[in-house]
Amino acid sequence: MAITKPTLIFLTALFIIQIINVRGGSIFSGSGEVPPYGGIWYACSNFDTTYISFSLRVSNTSLNVTPGFLGTVVPGQSPRSMPNYIPALIAFEMTADNVTLFASNLTGTNFKYIPSLSCYETPVQSCDQDVGDLPLDDNVSQCLALQNPTAQPVYFNLSISWIKSVFVSNFTSPDVPGGHESLKSIAVSSKQVYGFTQVFICTFMALVFSKFLH
Ligand SMILES: *[C@@H]1O[C@H](CO)[C@@H](O)[C@H](O)[C@H]1NC(C)=O
Ligand SMILES: *[C@@H]1O[C@H](CO)[C@@H](O)[C@H](O)[C@H]1NC(C)=O
Ligand SMILES: *[C@@H]1O[C@H](CO)[C@@H](O)[C@H](O)[C@H]1NC(C)=O
Ligand SMILES: *[C@@H]1O[C@H](CO)[C@@H](O)[C@H](O)[C@H]1NC(C)=O
Ligand SMILES: *[C@@H]1O[C@H](CO)[C@@H](O)[C@H](O)[C@H]1NC(C)=O
Ligand SMILES: *[C@@H]1O[C@H](CO)[C@@H](O)[C@H](O)[C@H]1NC(C)=O
Repeated sequence: MAITKPTLIFLTALFIIQIINVRGGSIFSGSGEVPPYGGIWYACSNFDTTYISFSLRVSNTSLNVTPGFLGTVVPGQSPRSMPNYIPALIAFEMTADNVTLFASNLTGTNFKYIPSLSCYETPVQSCDQDVGDLPLDDNVSQCLALQNPTAQPVYFNLSISWIKSVFVSNFTSPDVPGGHESLKSIAVSSKQVYGFTQVFICTFMALVFSKFLH
């Protein structure tokens, strides 16, 4: 066969790392859509945690929603007049209990969120938050909820993790309401980071193992 031993080892290593990534669910990256008229998109950790890190970018144009990406979508309420915004979203960090409350009563205000990890004062086109060194009080399922305050569907790119920072240089969102937009930190697409690390590790393994397996 044309497949050489190093190639085989490379592909096997890549496959194993891919599985570890999916299992560990470290960083999720993709594009999503939030329905208009107050519609909601939310995603929660499927384990208890006091950590969250995410980078949100709203698109001015429509995007292809990433197949199999995270998220539950709740439609908005029947067309009503909405303020005239450019595509923008409101982002809340809250517990899974509170998301249930939020999603079941779109106009309700009886849900609680973490102001310092939310971008809610005005609709935003970007929102970068990282728990950093200030762990959340409640060790429960933690969620990011996005609400669309416009009359059009809004598309976004998101990298999110409940385990590790999605930023190249991690940071701690200041403990003040209103959210923090990190202009200095570079939001990474995990694909880039993983892509590079994966290829690096796999090449290394292929080299080492093919030496020993002769
Ligand atoms: C949160 O709870 C989980 C178990 O539900 C535990 O494994 C984890 O260590 C806890 N984290 C903290 C920061 O207490
Ligand atoms: C969102 O991601 C797509 C695909 O990677 C990219 O083409 C687009 O420029 C991104 N948009 C924003 C606003 O980040
Ligand atoms: C989207 O449009 C707004 C307003 O025209 C502009 O300020 C912003 O930079 C645009 N964002 C992108 C990612 O092109
Ligand atoms: C909502 O969040 C607050 C603060 O994090 C928490 O005390 C409360 O138990 C959560 N759940 C509900 C249903 O309000
Ligand atoms: C929705 O929230 C509003 C404001 O908190 C409250 O008055 C109303 O009773 C809630 N409706 C339902 C169905 O829970
Ligand atoms: C932040 O970065 C430092 C140094 O690079 C690292 O030790 C630490 O674990 C990181 N924290 C998180 C939450 O990723």
